Amino acid sequence: MQRMDFETLVQTRKSVRGFKREPVARAVIEDIIEVAKRAPSSMNTQTWHVHVLTGEPLEELRRRNMEEMLAGDIVSHGEYQGVHRGRQVDIAKKLFAVMGIARDDKPMRQDWVLRGFRQFDAPVSLVLTYDKILDPGAVCHFDLGALCYGIVLAAWDRGLGSVINGQGIMRSDIVREVASIPDEEVIMTCVAMGYPDDSFPANAVRSDRESNGDFVRYVGFAD
Ligand SMILES: Cc1cc2nc3c(=O)[nH]c(=O)nc-3n(C[C@H](O)[C@H](O)[C@H](O)COP(=O)(O)O)c2cc1C
Repeated sequence: MQRMDFETLVQTRKSVRGFKREPVARAVIEDIIEVAKRAPSSMNTQTWHVHVLTGEPLEELRRRNMEEMLAGDIVSHGEYQGVHRGRQVDIAKKLFAVMGIARDDKPMRQDWVLRGFRQFDAPVSLVLTYDKILDPGAVCHFDLGALCYGIVLAAWDRGLGSVINGQGIMRSDIVREVASIPDEEVIMTCVAMGYPDDSFPANAVRSDRESNGDFVRYVGFAD
C-alpha cells in the first residue's frame, strides 16, 4: 500500500464520525498498534493497555450506553471556559452546520450526542487504559496521549478513519463490565475506528488551529 509522507499524513488527518459498515480485520489493527507503540513514554515505561472491541461486545456497549444516556444517568465533565469554550463552540458549530442541525433543534442535537455515545457506530473501538497504581497519572496520561495520536495517524495512513471519543467512555463502569477490563486499570479514553463513509457530511469538516503567534514564545533567538 502506498503510504503518505509525514507532512501529508498530519495535514490531511481529521476526525471521522461516519463509518462504512465494513468490518476491520484484526491484522490491520494489530499492524496499527505495532507502529503506534513506538510512541515515547516516560522512561520507556509504556504505561498503556489497549482493549480492542468489535462485534457483539461493542454492540452491547452501545446499547447500554444509550439506555443510560436516555435515562439521564450520564454526567459530563465540567464545561470549558474562556478561549477553550470558544474553540469548543466553534467546532460544534461547524459540525452542526454541515449536519444541518439548527441551534434550537433539540431532538437533532440530542441525536448527535447519542451518536457520540454510540461511538459513531464505528465497527471497532480501542479502549486505552493504564495501571491504577500510577495515579495520579499526569505523566502516564501524556504517554497514553502519545500512543493515541500514533494510533490515529497509523490508522489514517492505512485508509482508516477514527475519532478519539471521550463520550464513549463516560460510563466507564459499563465499558469495564462489557470489555472485562480489570479493576486495576484506569480507563482513559477510546478511539472509534473504521473505514470512512465519505458521504457523511461531518467527515468533511476541517477544524481550525490558532496561529503559532497565539501560543508560542521564543526565548534567546536572534531574530
Ligand atoms: C481527549 C479527546 C477526547 C475527544 N472526545 C470526543 C468526543 O467525545 N466526541 C467527538 O465528536 N470528538 C471528540 N474528540 C475529537 C476532537 O473533537 C477533535 O480532535 C478536535 O475537534 C480537532 O479536530 P480534528 O481531530 O478533526 O483535527 C476528542 C479528542 C480528544 C483528544
